[in-house]
Amino acid sequence: MITLEEVFPPFALKVSCGPVILRVLRDDDLPELVELVRGGIDAPGLPTPFLRSWHEEPFAPGAPDGFPATSLPWWWTQRATCAPEEWRLALAVRRDGILVGMQDLHSRGFAQTRTVLTGSWLGRDHQGRGTGTLMRRLVVGLAFDELGAQRCESGYIVGNHASAAVSRKAGYVDSGRRRVVQDTRNGPVTVDEQRVAVTPDTFVRQGGAVAVEGAEVLRRFLGIER
Ligand SMILES: CC(C)(COP(=O)(O)OP(=O)(O)OC[C@H]1O[C@@H](n2cnc3c(N)ncnc32)[C@H](O)[C@@H]1OP(=O)(O)O)[C@@H](O)C(=O)NCCC(=O)NCCS
Repeated sequence: MITLEEVFPPFALKVSCGPVILRVLRDDDLPELVELVRGGIDAPGLPTPFLRSWHEEPFAPGAPDGFPATSLPWWWTQRATCAPEEWRLALAVRRDGILVGMQDLHSRGFAQTRTVLTGSWLGRDHQGRGTGTLMRRLVVGLAFDELGAQRCESGYIVGNHASAAVSRKAGYVDSGRRRVVQDTRNGPVTVDEQRVAVTPDTFVRQGGAVAVEGAEVLRRFLGIER
């Protein structure tokens, strides 16, 4: 019988380096992901990192208006966004086999722009061990080396020193600031977002052997020509 990876080639993608593996999020990962979010994401002393406080919704499995129900559409929408005109890869990050965070990759009009956007987070207990830097470098390497991207963009709320450091260590440079509205649990707050971008010229690669599986079938599925 045809396999799930043949039906949906993003599931065949596997990027690994040392103890860290990135693979597209599957439904089987959801219980572990929900527990990870429940353990907390915000780093002490740093600003709330997301534009919407999805991770702070009351935990109410099975109810329509609490977590995880409020986050399921987002995770499934990422998987459902898989056309050449616009695609998203929600990559579950495992370190030593344990789900520690998410590294998202998104592009619209990739054939024309050759640009991707990234977003990422780690559970609080898994921060500060170099995983954030490693997973960002892995996904940028995937974009440049395997998908033929020419630019990766990201952004962080001003004051998020951990995210700023990850971007700097991966070779991103500042590309402007913008005012954004953060939808917190206490209501909307206006904050500054620092935009950053990296190109192959400035990219700082991960040392050590990086292995990528499933890139060819992914390119074909997303209509990417190199
Ligand atoms: C941002 C995040 C992905 C970084 O991953 P990480 O694994 O914690 O970061 P690393 O261990 O790779 O550290 C990268 C750098 O950040 C610095 N750093 C980490 N935490 C920091 C903190 N709280 N304050 C200041 N610097 C910090 C480290 O010192 C390191 O720099 P160095 O190697 O020069 O010392 C992770 O902390 C996280 O998920 N935070 C909450 C969600 C978030 O902010 N997501 C990003 C949204 S834009």
